[in-house]
Amino acid sequence: MLENEKSQSRLMFTPEQLDSLVEKYDTPLFIIIRNKLLDNFTAFRRFFPGVEVYYAVKTNPHPFIIGLLGEAGSSFDVASLQEIQLILCHHIAPERMILANTIKRKKGIRFAREVGVNRLTFDNFDEIGKMARVFPDAQVILRIKTPSDGSRINLSYKFGAEQEDALHLLLRAREAGLRPVGVSFHVGSPCTNVQNYVSSLQIVKKIFEQAADKGFDLKLVDIGGGFPLHVFRSEGVEPSVESMGETITPILREYFGTDCQFIAEPGRSLIGSACVLITKVIGRAMRSGKAWYYLDDGIYGTFTAIPFDKSVFDFYTFKKTDARFPCILAGPTCDSTDVIADGVLLPPLDLDDLIVVPDIGAYSWASATTFNGFEKPQVIVY
Ligand SMILES: Cc1ncc(COP(=O)(O)O)c(C=O)c1O
Repeated sequence: MLENEKSQSRLMFTPEQLDSLVEKYDTPLFIIIRNKLLDNFTAFRRFFPGVEVYYAVKTNPHPFIIGLLGEAGSSFDVASLQEIQLILCHHIAPERMILANTIKRKKGIRFAREVGVNRLTFDNFDEIGKMARVFPDAQVILRIKTPSDGSRINLSYKFGAEQEDALHLLLRAREAGLRPVGVSFHVGSPCTNVQNYVSSLQIVKKIFEQAADKGFDLKLVDIGGGFPLHVFRSEGVEPSVESMGETITPILREYFGTDCQFIAEPGRSLIGSACVLITKVIGRAMRSGKAWYYLDDGIYGTFTAIPFDKSVFDFYTFKKTDARFPCILAGPTCDSTDVIADGVLLPPLDLDDLIVVPDIGAYSWASATTFNGFEKPQVIVY
C-alpha cells in the first residue's frame, strides 16, 4: 500500500500501472518520466529569467535525456571528450557546450578545439600551460573556490582557485594567449543554502572589478549547479529552486548588468525527480535477528548514488498493511558492502514484492556498473 496520497503523487504511477510495466519489462526498471523532465526544465528557466541552462551531462547522460533537453533548448555542460561526442551525436551545435572540467586530458582539449567547443574552465597554472599549447586561443573561464556551507558534496574541495590567486591566473592566461571571458563556481550539491550563491556572487563581483582595472572585459558568469530537487521527502521539503531564483537573479543583474551572459549548469534539479526505479525482492534471510531483503538492484547498480553522491532515498511498497518493521535492504552482488539501507521501516515483504524508489534520476544510472555480471537496469521512457 502506498503510505499516503502525497507519496502516491510522488511516485507518479498507480500500483496497477507499475505492475503492468513490470510484467512487460521485468525489473530492475529505471523509468524516465518525460513530462516531469520537461516540467523541471521549463520551471528552471522560468525561475531564472535571463540565465541560460547548460544541463550537466554527468548527472545522467542517457541519450533520451540529452535529446529531449536539446530539443527543448538546453545547452550542455560537458566534462570529457566522450561527453562532447554524445552531444554532437544529437546534432547539437558545439557553441551550446561548455567544457566545464578544470583538469582536462590533452586529447579532450584537442578534440574540443577540433569540433569547436571553444569555452573551457580552468582553476590552476598548469592547466593554462596545457590549454595554451593545445588550444591557443580558447575562451577560458576561471573557476573559483566558493562557500559550500550545508551542501552534501563540497565541490570546492577538489576544484576552484583561491580568491587571492584569481587575478594572477587571469593575467597568466592572457599572457599565454588564451582569452579569459568569465568566472564560474559551484556551491556544492545539493545546495540548500542560497547564501552560498549570494556570497559566491560577491566574490565574483570583486574579481570582475579587479580584472576590469587590468583591462579585462569579462562578460560571463557561470553560477554552476547545486540546485536541489523540490520534492516531498519523508524528512521534509528542501528549499525550492523557485525561491533560489528569486534571490539570485536580481543579484546577477545588479552586480553584472544586462550586458553579461549568465549560465547555470543544473544537473540533479532537472533529472533527479524525473526518474523512478522499480526493483524486486529476490531473496530473504533472518540474520542475527534482523530481516534482510535482497533486491535485484544494489550499490553497484543504480544505488551507486549512495556511496558516490551520498544520496538518501525513500522506499515504497504496495503491501496492504500498516505494519512496519526495521529491515536491511541489500543488493544482488557477492560483496558485503552491497547494502542499500540498514534500519529502513517497511512492511514484511515476500519474494517478488516490488519496491519503488522515486527521485533517483541523478548520479545513479550514470555511475551504475555491471559488477558481478549484473546488468544496469533497463531504461524506459514514460
Ligand atoms: C562543473 C559542474 N557543474 C554542474 C554540476 C551539476 O551539479 P548539480 O547536479 O548539483 O546541479 C556538477 C556536478 O558535479 C559539476 O561538477
